[in-house]
Amino acid sequence: MPDIQIMPSILAADFGHLAEGCRRAEAAGADQIHVDVMDGVFVPNISFGPDVVKMSAANVSIPQNVHLMVSRPQDHIKAFADAGSDTIQIHIEAKCDVPETLAAIRAMGRRPAITLNPETPVESIFECLDNRWVDEVLVMSVHPGFGGQKYISAVEDKIAAIRQRAGWVDIAIDGGIDDQTVGPAAASGANLFVAGSYLFRQEDMAAAIADMRKQATESYCSAI
Ligand code: DX5
Ligand code: ZN
Repeated sequence: MPDIQIMPSILAADFGHLAEGCRRAEAAGADQIHVDVMDGVFVPNISFGPDVVKMSAANVSIPQNVHLMVSRPQDHIKAFADAGSDTIQIHIEAKCDVPETLAAIRAMGRRPAITLNPETPVESIFECLDNRWVDEVLVMSVHPGFGGQKYISAVEDKIAAIRQRAGWVDIAIDGGIDDQTVGPAAASGANLFVAGSYLFRQEDMAAAIADMRKQATESYCSAI
């Protein structure tokens, strides 16, 4: 069984106290910090730049899982690698040479990952799996751009197809993950779970992370 990991998204943290949000997530048992980067072009919203990754990396010792929702990721991967990103996720829908950009991320010593929107067919990323251009796939279970949206369960079929094709790959799921959706997502084959609004609204984030981890572990096992 692959590692089950919980990755709080600081998009849902209090922007007036971002460093504290990162430290709170780490103290609560988070495995990685998920940083949502939005350029206002690829998605309608604008969020963080490389300096926020730098801030997060300076405040915690867990890895930085950086989700680039930008139309030209190739123009920014160096800045995000230099800022301390451990995993860099680019969208298959982005305007870039995907294999070249993933190879550049790997050449910078970072983990390359591919992500796909809910309406994008899973076959579009098979080349990335078959050639092992990526270490991780991020399956979007909401339309990217905003936190707090409803989980789209139809993407579970895509997770199952990815897990069947590439048993070795880390499969992250992002959007609408909470104590109700973590189980079904894990049962279909996801092993990394991004959660923003659900985790940051908890009074006891540690208990919520522990519960998610337990549910994911039990559901993942029951699926295999
Ligand atoms: C959406 C982002 C997500 C977002 C998830 O575009 O990629 O990472 O922060 O937020 P929740 O968990 O609130 O759906
Ligand atoms: Zn994200």
